[in-house]
Amino acid sequence: MNIQPIEERMEKVLFSAEQISQRVAELGERISHDYTRAGCAKDPHGRPPMLVCVLHGAMVFMADLIRRIPTEVEYDFICVSSYGNGTSPGAVRLIKDLDRPIYQRDVLIVEDIIDTGHTIDYLRRGFAARDPASIRICTLIDKQARREVPVEIDYVGFTMERDEFIVGYGMDYAELYRNLPYIAVLKPEYIR
Ligand code: PRP
Repeated sequence: MNIQPIEERMEKVLFSAEQISQRVAELGERISHDYTRAGCAKDPHGRPPMLVCVLHGAMVFMADLIRRIPTEVEYDFICVSSYGNGTSPGAVRLIKDLDRPIYQRDVLIVEDIIDTGHTIDYLRRGFAARDPASIRICTLIDKQARREVPVEIDYVGFTMERDEFIVGYGMDYAELYRNLPYIAVLKPEYIR
């Protein structure tokens, strides 16, 4: 194991822990406000919104976000993966499905990053087929530079204009760097 602190492999910090914390608090307040007052909740049984964390990247964001929502929520997890090969670009594979039904529930999908848009498009379509009361999307990072599928996002933490490869706060390169408390650009020499 390489014992060098991972911080030294970062070229620059894009969003600091303080910036993220402040933005996550704002998102939590807005989500709470919307689902309790603005009528975006459509569940005929009046149940709390179901937040769906898209593993693995969104785990850190989700953990902070739910603690910034002062009203009732429930949550569940789904795990998907892009095939990431040239033969089926944009193909998404289900690794772990939700544990509970979302029929007539207000679903809020929580992502760390929306990049090409293929993953969220796959999730939205799949969830829509289960007849939820509503589907909304929340992402910490909206990276528009590489979008291939149009996506309507309800809650965005930060918008990235430039196509930079970022890690930290749940996001990885080759499964590393998810544990950084901030979001940073990796030095090119650490990208193989
Ligand atoms: C990342 C991220 C999103 C997806 C976005 O997941 O968490 O789910 O990519 O990319 P897209 O908009 O181009 O589809 P990844 O497949 O890297 O898995 P991970 O969450 O386990 O890191």
